[in-house]
Amino acid sequence: MSARKIIIDTDPGQDDAVAILLALASPELDVLGITAVAGNVPLPLTTKNALIVCELAGREDVKVFAGCDAPLSRVLVTAEHVHGKTGLDGPQLPTPKMALQEAHAVDFIIETLRREPSGTVTLCPLGPLTNIATAFQRAPDIVERVQEIVLMGGAYFQVGNITPTAEFNIYVDPEAADIVVKSGVPIVVMPLDVTHKALTTRPRVEAFRDMGTEPGRMVAEWTDFFERFDKEKYGSEGAPLHDPCVIAYLLEPDLFQGREVNVMVETGSELTMGMTVADWWRVTDRAPNAMFMGEVDADGFFALLTDRIARL
Ligand code: BDR
Ligand code: CA
Repeated sequence: MSARKIIIDTDPGQDDAVAILLALASPELDVLGITAVAGNVPLPLTTKNALIVCELAGREDVKVFAGCDAPLSRVLVTAEHVHGKTGLDGPQLPTPKMALQEAHAVDFIIETLRREPSGTVTLCPLGPLTNIATAFQRAPDIVERVQEIVLMGGAYFQVGNITPTAEFNIYVDPEAADIVVKSGVPIVVMPLDVTHKALTTRPRVEAFRDMGTEPGRMVAEWTDFFERFDKEKYGSEGAPLHDPCVIAYLLEPDLFQGREVNVMVETGSELTMGMTVADWWRVTDRAPNAMFMGEVDADGFFALLTDRIARL
Protein backbone atom coordinates (compact mmCIF):
# COMPACT_ATOMS: atom_id res chain seq x y z
CA MET A 1 0.00 0.00 0.00
CA SER A 2 1.30 3.47 -0.79
CA ALA A 3 1.97 5.90 2.03
CA ARG A 4 -0.86 8.16 3.16
CA LYS A 5 -0.30 11.76 2.07
CA ILE A 6 -0.52 14.33 4.84
CA ILE A 7 0.12 18.01 5.47
CA ILE A 8 1.05 18.85 9.07
CA ASP A 9 -0.15 22.31 10.08
CA THR A 10 1.60 23.22 13.30
CA ASP A 11 2.80 25.75 15.91
CA PRO A 12 5.77 23.97 17.55
CA GLY A 13 5.60 23.64 20.68
CA GLN A 14 7.33 20.64 22.27
CA ASP A 15 4.36 18.31 21.72
CA ASP A 16 4.07 19.45 18.09
CA ALA A 17 7.76 18.61 17.73
CA VAL A 18 7.18 15.06 18.98
CA ALA A 19 4.23 14.71 16.59
CA ILE A 20 6.38 15.80 13.63
CA LEU A 21 9.13 13.35 14.64
CA LEU A 22 6.57 10.55 14.87
CA ALA A 23 5.29 11.32 11.37
CA LEU A 24 8.77 11.59 9.86
CA ALA A 25 9.75 8.27 11.46
CA SER A 26 6.76 6.44 9.98
CA PRO A 27 6.95 5.00 6.45
CA GLU A 28 3.15 4.68 6.33
CA LEU A 29 2.99 8.48 6.03
CA ASP A 30 4.13 10.74 3.22
CA VAL A 31 4.58 14.24 4.68
CA LEU A 32 3.95 16.47 1.66
CA GLY A 33 4.75 19.56 3.66
CA ILE A 34 4.77 21.20 7.07
CA THR A 35 2.91 24.48 7.36
CA ALA A 36 3.66 26.72 10.31
CA VAL A 37 1.08 28.94 11.98
CA ALA A 38 1.20 31.42 14.85
CA GLY A 39 0.08 29.86 18.12
CA ASN A 40 2.20 28.66 21.02
CA VAL A 41 4.72 31.35 20.01
CA PRO A 42 4.72 33.91 17.17
CA LEU A 43 5.11 32.75 13.55
CA PRO A 44 8.85 33.40 13.09
CA LEU A 45 9.53 31.03 15.99
CA THR A 46 7.03 28.31 15.02
CA THR A 47 8.54 28.35 11.51
CA LYS A 48 12.10 28.15 12.82
CA ASN A 49 11.09 25.37 15.21
CA ALA A 50 9.58 23.32 12.38
CA LEU A 51 12.92 23.54 10.58
CA ILE A 52 14.80 22.50 13.73
CA VAL A 53 12.61 19.42 14.10
CA CYS A 54 13.03 18.35 10.46
CA GLU A 55 16.81 18.63 10.82
CA LEU A 56 16.68 16.65 14.06
CA ALA A 57 14.92 13.89 12.13
CA GLY A 58 17.60 14.09 9.42
CA ARG A 59 14.95 15.19 6.95
CA GLU A 60 16.19 18.41 5.36
CA ASP A 61 14.20 17.34 2.28
CA VAL A 62 10.85 18.08 3.94
CA LYS A 63 9.17 21.24 2.67
CA VAL A 64 8.42 23.78 5.41
CA PHE A 65 6.23 26.83 4.76
CA ALA A 66 5.42 29.88 6.88
CA GLY A 67 1.73 30.69 7.14
CA CYS A 68 -0.57 33.13 8.91
CA ASP A 69 0.96 35.28 11.63
CA ALA A 70 -2.32 36.16 13.34
CA PRO A 71 -5.81 34.71 13.78
CA LEU A 72 -8.55 35.61 11.26
CA SER A 73 -9.97 38.48 13.29
CA ARG A 74 -8.34 38.51 16.71
CA VAL A 75 -5.14 39.48 18.44
CA LEU A 76 -2.79 36.50 18.78
CA VAL A 77 -2.73 34.78 22.18
CA THR A 78 0.45 32.76 22.80
CA ALA A 79 1.50 30.17 25.39
CA GLU A 80 5.08 30.94 26.46
CA HIS A 81 3.97 30.14 30.01
CA VAL A 82 3.76 26.49 28.94
CA HIS A 83 6.33 26.15 26.15
CA GLY A 84 8.93 28.77 27.11
CA LYS A 85 10.18 31.78 25.16
CA THR A 86 11.33 29.79 22.12
CA GLY A 87 8.33 27.44 22.07
CA LEU A 88 10.84 24.58 22.33
CA ASP A 89 12.49 25.43 25.63
CA GLY A 90 14.36 22.63 27.38
CA PRO A 91 17.43 21.52 25.46
CA GLN A 92 19.95 23.81 23.77
CA LEU A 93 18.50 24.49 20.31
CA PRO A 94 20.59 24.52 17.13
CA THR A 95 20.23 27.23 14.49
CA PRO A 96 18.54 25.53 11.56
CA LYS A 97 20.43 25.51 8.25
CA MET A 98 17.80 24.08 5.95
CA ALA A 99 15.89 26.51 3.74
CA LEU A 100 12.35 27.63 4.28
CA GLN A 101 10.12 27.36 1.18
CA GLU A 102 9.29 30.69 -0.42
CA ALA A 103 5.57 30.06 -0.94
CA HIS A 104 3.03 31.01 1.71
CA ALA A 105 1.64 28.02 3.62
CA VAL A 106 -1.91 28.82 2.53
CA ASP A 107 -0.90 28.80 -1.15
CA PHE A 108 0.90 25.50 -0.62
CA ILE A 109 -2.21 23.95 0.95
CA ILE A 110 -4.41 25.20 -1.90
CA GLU A 111 -2.02 24.15 -4.68
CA THR A 112 -1.40 20.73 -3.16
CA LEU A 113 -5.09 19.94 -2.79
CA ARG A 114 -5.72 21.03 -6.40
CA ARG A 115 -2.76 19.06 -7.73
CA GLU A 116 -3.17 15.75 -5.91
CA PRO A 117 -6.05 13.42 -6.82
CA SER A 118 -9.20 14.39 -4.95
CA GLY A 119 -9.64 12.58 -1.63
CA THR A 120 -6.00 11.60 -1.20
CA VAL A 121 -4.62 14.32 1.11
CA THR A 122 -5.24 14.42 4.86
CA LEU A 123 -4.76 17.63 6.84
CA CYS A 124 -3.27 17.32 10.34
CA PRO A 125 -3.72 20.58 12.26
CA LEU A 126 -1.81 20.71 15.56
CA GLY A 127 -2.34 24.41 16.30
CA PRO A 128 -4.88 27.18 15.74
CA LEU A 129 -6.84 26.56 12.53
CA THR A 130 -5.99 29.87 10.84
CA ASN A 131 -4.05 28.46 7.85
CA ILE A 132 -6.68 25.82 7.09
CA ALA A 133 -9.65 28.20 7.38
CA THR A 134 -7.88 30.82 5.25
CA ALA A 135 -7.24 28.21 2.55
CA PHE A 136 -10.91 27.10 2.65
CA GLN A 137 -12.12 30.69 2.43
CA ARG A 138 -9.80 31.62 -0.40
CA ALA A 139 -10.31 28.43 -2.43
CA PRO A 140 -13.66 26.81 -1.61
CA ASP A 141 -13.08 24.27 -4.41
CA ILE A 142 -10.41 22.50 -2.31
CA VAL A 143 -12.76 21.68 0.57
CA GLU A 144 -14.35 18.64 -1.10
CA ARG A 145 -10.91 17.44 -2.20
CA VAL A 146 -9.67 16.90 1.40
CA GLN A 147 -9.63 13.24 2.40
CA GLU A 148 -9.94 13.90 6.12
CA ILE A 149 -8.93 16.39 8.81
CA VAL A 150 -7.45 14.87 11.97
CA LEU A 151 -6.89 17.67 14.45
CA MET A 152 -5.82 18.29 18.02
CA GLY A 153 -8.16 20.76 19.66
CA GLY A 154 -11.18 21.25 21.83
CA ALA A 155 -12.46 19.59 24.97
CA TYR A 156 -15.74 18.42 26.38
CA PHE A 157 -15.46 16.52 29.66
CA GLN A 158 -12.09 18.13 30.40
CA VAL A 159 -13.42 21.61 29.59
CA GLY A 160 -10.66 24.19 29.14
CA ASN A 161 -6.93 24.62 29.57
CA ILE A 162 -6.56 28.29 28.56
CA THR A 163 -9.94 29.47 29.90
CA PRO A 164 -12.31 27.49 32.10
CA THR A 165 -14.18 26.35 28.97
CA ALA A 166 -11.78 26.54 26.02
CA GLU A 167 -8.82 24.55 24.80
CA PHE A 168 -5.88 26.62 23.51
CA ASN A 169 -5.88 25.81 19.76
CA ILE A 170 -9.58 26.56 19.38
CA TYR A 171 -9.51 29.58 21.72
CA VAL A 172 -6.75 31.32 19.76
CA ASP A 173 -8.82 31.36 16.56
CA PRO A 174 -12.42 30.34 17.20
CA GLU A 175 -13.65 31.83 13.92
CA ALA A 176 -11.20 29.62 12.02
CA ALA A 177 -12.27 26.56 14.00
CA ASP A 178 -15.90 27.39 13.27
CA ILE A 179 -15.19 27.42 9.52
CA VAL A 180 -13.41 24.07 9.75
CA VAL A 181 -16.07 22.23 11.77
CA LYS A 182 -18.76 23.50 9.40
CA SER A 183 -16.77 22.62 6.25
CA GLY A 184 -18.33 19.22 5.66
CA VAL A 185 -14.91 17.52 5.50
CA PRO A 186 -14.74 14.27 7.54
CA ILE A 187 -13.13 15.34 10.82
CA VAL A 188 -11.51 13.44 13.67
CA VAL A 189 -11.00 15.51 16.83
CA MET A 190 -8.41 14.71 19.49
CA PRO A 191 -9.64 16.83 22.40
CA LEU A 192 -8.18 17.26 25.87
CA ASP A 193 -10.48 14.40 26.92
CA VAL A 194 -8.07 12.10 25.10
CA THR A 195 -4.76 13.89 25.50
CA HIS A 196 -5.12 14.17 29.27
CA LYS A 197 -5.00 10.35 29.32
CA ALA A 198 -1.69 10.29 27.41
CA LEU A 199 0.58 11.38 30.27
CA THR A 200 4.36 11.62 30.19
CA THR A 201 5.03 9.50 33.26
CA ARG A 202 8.67 9.02 34.40
CA PRO A 203 9.18 5.57 32.85
CA ARG A 204 7.76 6.80 29.54
CA VAL A 205 10.11 9.80 29.46
CA GLU A 206 13.12 7.71 30.51
CA ALA A 207 12.37 5.33 27.63
CA PHE A 208 13.09 8.23 25.26
CA ARG A 209 16.30 9.19 27.08
CA ASP A 210 17.46 5.56 27.21
CA MET A 211 17.46 5.36 23.41
CA GLY A 212 20.84 7.07 23.51
CA THR A 213 20.03 8.93 20.29
CA GLU A 214 19.83 12.68 19.64
CA PRO A 215 16.06 12.61 18.89
CA GLY A 216 15.48 10.48 22.02
CA ARG A 217 17.45 12.91 24.18
CA MET A 218 15.69 15.96 22.74
CA VAL A 219 12.23 14.43 23.24
CA ALA A 220 13.09 13.61 26.87
CA GLU A 221 14.41 17.15 27.52
CA TRP A 222 11.42 18.80 25.86
CA THR A 223 9.10 16.65 27.91
CA ASP A 224 11.02 17.41 31.12
CA PHE A 225 10.55 21.11 30.43
CA PHE A 226 6.89 21.38 29.58
CA GLU A 227 5.61 18.78 32.02
CA ARG A 228 6.71 20.95 34.95
CA PHE A 229 3.92 23.40 34.21
CA ASP A 230 1.19 20.79 33.77
CA LYS A 231 2.23 18.67 36.75
CA GLU A 232 1.92 21.67 39.00
CA LYS A 233 -1.34 22.76 37.42
CA TYR A 234 -3.11 19.40 37.41
CA GLY A 235 -1.25 17.55 40.13
CA SER A 236 -0.81 14.71 37.62
CA GLU A 237 2.15 12.34 37.30
CA GLY A 238 3.08 13.79 33.91
CA ALA A 239 1.93 16.16 31.20
CA PRO A 240 -0.56 15.44 28.44
CA LEU A 241 1.29 14.74 25.19
CA HIS A 242 -1.37 16.34 23.00
CA ASP A 243 -0.34 16.62 19.38
CA PRO A 244 1.27 13.20 18.75
CA CYS A 245 -2.23 11.72 19.27
CA VAL A 246 -3.13 13.02 15.80
CA ILE A 247 -0.29 11.19 14.08
CA ALA A 248 -0.75 8.07 16.22
CA TYR A 249 -4.36 7.92 15.07
CA LEU A 250 -3.24 7.79 11.43
CA LEU A 251 -0.89 4.92 12.24
CA GLU A 252 -3.02 2.93 14.69
CA PRO A 253 -6.62 4.21 14.77
CA ASP A 254 -7.69 1.41 17.10
CA LEU A 255 -5.72 3.02 19.93
CA PHE A 256 -8.55 5.57 20.14
CA GLN A 257 -12.27 5.44 20.79
CA GLY A 258 -14.88 8.10 20.36
CA ARG A 259 -18.29 9.01 19.04
CA GLU A 260 -19.64 10.55 15.86
CA VAL A 261 -21.27 13.68 17.23
CA ASN A 262 -22.12 17.25 16.37
CA VAL A 263 -19.45 19.74 17.41
CA MET A 264 -19.90 23.49 17.30
CA VAL A 265 -17.52 26.25 18.32
CA GLU A 266 -18.58 29.19 20.48
CA THR A 267 -17.70 32.45 18.72
CA GLY A 268 -20.16 34.86 20.38
CA SER A 269 -19.88 34.68 24.14
CA GLU A 270 -16.85 36.26 25.82
CA LEU A 271 -17.35 33.97 28.80
CA THR A 272 -17.16 30.70 26.86
CA MET A 273 -15.29 31.87 23.73
CA GLY A 274 -13.74 28.98 21.81
CA MET A 275 -15.59 26.27 23.69
CA THR A 276 -16.20 23.14 21.62
CA VAL A 277 -19.83 22.26 22.29
CA ALA A 278 -19.93 18.54 21.58
CA ASP A 279 -23.31 16.83 21.59
CA TRP A 280 -21.78 13.76 23.27
CA TRP A 281 -25.12 12.51 24.59
CA ARG A 282 -26.93 13.30 21.33
CA VAL A 283 -29.49 15.51 23.04
CA THR A 284 -30.01 17.68 19.94
CA ASP A 285 -31.02 16.84 16.39
CA ARG A 286 -27.90 18.55 15.04
CA ALA A 287 -26.24 16.29 12.50
CA PRO A 288 -22.92 14.67 13.51
CA ASN A 289 -19.97 16.41 11.85
CA ALA A 290 -16.99 14.89 13.63
CA MET A 291 -15.59 11.78 15.26
CA PHE A 292 -14.93 13.21 18.73
CA MET A 293 -12.46 10.99 20.57
CA GLY A 294 -12.73 10.23 24.27
CA GLU A 295 -10.41 7.33 25.04
CA VAL A 296 -6.85 6.30 24.27
CA ASP A 297 -4.87 3.16 25.03
CA ALA A 298 -2.06 5.19 26.63
CA ASP A 299 0.40 2.29 26.95
CA GLY A 300 -0.15 1.37 23.31
CA PHE A 301 0.26 5.00 22.31
CA PHE A 302 3.61 5.37 24.12
CA ALA A 303 4.79 1.98 22.82
CA LEU A 304 4.16 3.20 19.27
CA LEU A 305 5.85 6.51 19.98
CA THR A 306 9.01 5.00 21.49
CA ASP A 307 9.25 2.38 18.77
CA ARG A 308 9.11 5.04 16.05
CA ILE A 309 11.28 7.72 17.69
CA ALA A 310 13.95 5.04 18.24
CA ARG A 311 14.12 4.54 14.46
CA LEU A 312 15.29 8.11 13.86
C1 BDR B 1 -2.56 22.40 22.39
O1 BDR B 1 -2.09 23.72 22.65
C2 BDR B 1 -0.70 23.79 22.49
O2 BDR B 1 -0.12 24.42 23.57
C3 BDR B 1 -0.21 22.38 22.30
O3 BDR B 1 0.85 22.36 21.37
C4 BDR B 1 -1.42 21.65 21.78
O4 BDR B 1 -1.51 21.73 20.37
C5 BDR B 1 -3.10 21.82 23.68
O5 BDR B 1 -4.13 22.60 24.17
CA1 CA C 1 0.32 22.54 18.99
